[in-house]
Amino acid sequence: MGRVALVTGGSRGIGAAISKALKDAGYTVAASYAGNDEAAAKFSDETGIKTYKWDVASYEASKAGIEKVEADLGPIEIVVANAGITRDAPFHKMTPEQWQQVIDTNLTGVFNTIHPVWPGMRERKFGRVVVISSVNGQKGQFGQVNYAATKAGDIGIVRSLAQEGARAGITANAICPGYIATEMVMAVSDKVRESIIAQIPAGRLGEPEEIARCVTFLVSDDAGFINGSTISANGAQFFG
Ligand code: CAA
Repeated sequence: MGRVALVTGGSRGIGAAISKALKDAGYTVAASYAGNDEAAAKFSDETGIKTYKWDVASYEASKAGIEKVEADLGPIEIVVANAGITRDAPFHKMTPEQWQQVIDTNLTGVFNTIHPVWPGMRERKFGRVVVISSVNGQKGQFGQVNYAATKAGDIGIVRSLAQEGARAGITANAICPGYIATEMVMAVSDKVRESIIAQIPAGRLGEPEEIARCVTFLVSDDAGFINGSTISANGAQFFG
């Protein structure tokens, strides 16, 4: 059995592609999800990947979920903090609830995911942390003050963790996907999506597998000197 990898939000969208790619690369994968039992069961049936339900916005739930994964599969050596939500609105219409929900899930959720596994990684002198940020954390986005703040925050997190973990054999890197063909992007109106695609020199949305391949590269044993980096995968939309 390969190293154990946890992918949060790992049963849908980009996370599902990451879970599958890691399994194909020989890792033992646990995919967490927040609420969609039906999608998780379908994903598990199709892939044989174990799914675990908890809300990354809760520290206690994350800690308990991670303990369960480790009891089932062994110590988590690879963590992919992927779970994220959008609550888009222009700033003047954004409610404190929309702000807080996105901060709790996308930013505090990253802390809650990495913090419980960090001591074990330090003890074992090996760890791979990948945080899924976004092109919109690099460039900002109309309607996404909340989301962009969290995704910019991800970059600060990995740059700091990289310095703290380097001597213990732990790397922490961010991937900034551009617009990828997932339910999250499909949720914007057709008009907005068309205007987005017009801004992508590649002329198309990205595929989830194109992000998953970046993760497989970063978590490999061979990638030990790549630490604190940000990989942009956005079809030349933005150079961050
Ligand atoms: N730049 C400048 N002005 C813009 C604009 C933009 N990008 N988008 C909209 N506006 C303007 C509109 O033209 C309109 O102006 P007028 O009132 O003068 O006509 C005004 O802002 C209001 O626009 P809307 O009617 O669209 O406002 P709304 O409140 O109904 O909706 C919104 C606002 C929900 C933010 C909508 O614009 C939207 O969905 N935008 C897309 C946000 C986006 O890109 N989300 C990404 C989701 S995918 C993701 O997040 C994954 C990832 O990591 C990439």
